[in-house]
Amino acid sequence: MPLLFSFPGYEDLTQKLQKKLNYNLGHVTIRHFPDGESFVQLLSPVQGKDLFIVCGLENPDTKIMSLLFFSNLVKEMGAKSITLVAPYLGYMRQDKQFHEGESITSKVFAKLLSQHIDRLITIDPHLHRYKSLSEIYSIPATALHATEIVARWIQENIERPLLIGPDSESKQWVSEVAKFAKAPYLILQKIRHGDKNVEVSVPNVEMYKTHTPVLVDDIISTGHTMMETIKHLKAAGMKTPVCVGVHGIFAEGAYDDLEKAGATQVLTCNTVPHRSNTIDISDLIAECLKP
Ligand code: R5P
Repeated sequence: MPLLFSFPGYEDLTQKLQKKLNYNLGHVTIRHFPDGESFVQLLSPVQGKDLFIVCGLENPDTKIMSLLFFSNLVKEMGAKSITLVAPYLGYMRQDKQFHEGESITSKVFAKLLSQHIDRLITIDPHLHRYKSLSEIYSIPATALHATEIVARWIQENIERPLLIGPDSESKQWVSEVAKFAKAPYLILQKIRHGDKNVEVSVPNVEMYKTHTPVLVDDIISTGHTMMETIKHLKAAGMKTPVCVGVHGIFAEGAYDDLEKAGATQVLTCNTVPHRSNTIDISDLIAECLKP
C-alpha cells in the first residue's frame, strides 16, 4: 500500500487525503537549523513502497533543499517511487526571457525537480507560454483543474454572478468556470509595468449592474491585479466584488489590502494553506492518487 507523507504545513490536506484513500501515513521530521540549513530525518520504513509527498511549492526556495534531501534519502532506503503532490507549482511565471540576461527559471526548476522525483501532480499550474507541463518536465506531470469545483462554489454561494478575468491569460479558466457555473463573463485587458504596478481596463459593464462581480484568477500574489480591477468596478458603480483565487500566495499583506480595497470576500482553494481557504480540492487530488 502507498505511503502518504506531509511536508510541514500540509498536514490538513494530507489527513483529508489519507481519510479518502485509506493509505498509511509516513512520518518524517523536516526543520531548519538556526543558520537556515535543512534537516531531514525519515521515521518510517519505505522499502519497496510507492510514496506520495504532499508539499506545495509556493515559497519554493525555502523547501526545495528539504525536498531534494528527502527524495535522495528515500531512494537510498529503497522506496519504489516518489510522486510529488504540489497543489501549487512555483517557478512557472518566468517562462521566457523578458529582458536580456534573465534566467528562464521555470525551465531550470523543472529540470532539477525532474531529476529527483518520479512523477508530479499539481493543480492549475500557470501555463501561459507553455501549453503543457511536458514542455519543461521530463517526468510524468499531471495538471489537475479546480474549474468545476470553483464553479460549483460560485453557483451555490453567489446570486447573479458576473465572472471577471483580469487579463487575457485568465480567459482559459474563467471561461470554463463560467460555463460550468452557467454565468456570464468578461475578460479585461491588463498591462503590467512592474511587480506592483498593474494597469487594468474594464470594458462597458453597465449592463451587469445588478450582478455580483466575481473576480477569478489562478494566482493572487501581491493582489495588485485584483485591487486595480476593484477600483475600476467601483468607479463604474458596480456592486462590491467577491475575489476568488485558485492559489492564494498573498505576498506582503495582500489579503488585508484586498479587503481594504473593497472586496466583500476574498477566498481561495486550499492549495496554499491560508485563512482564506474556502474551496476544498482534496477530492480532486484523491481521485488522481487512487490506484
Ligand atoms: C498572472 O499572470 C497571473 O495569472 C495573475 O494575474 C498574477 O499572478 C496576479 O499577481 P498579482 O496578485 O501580484 O497582481
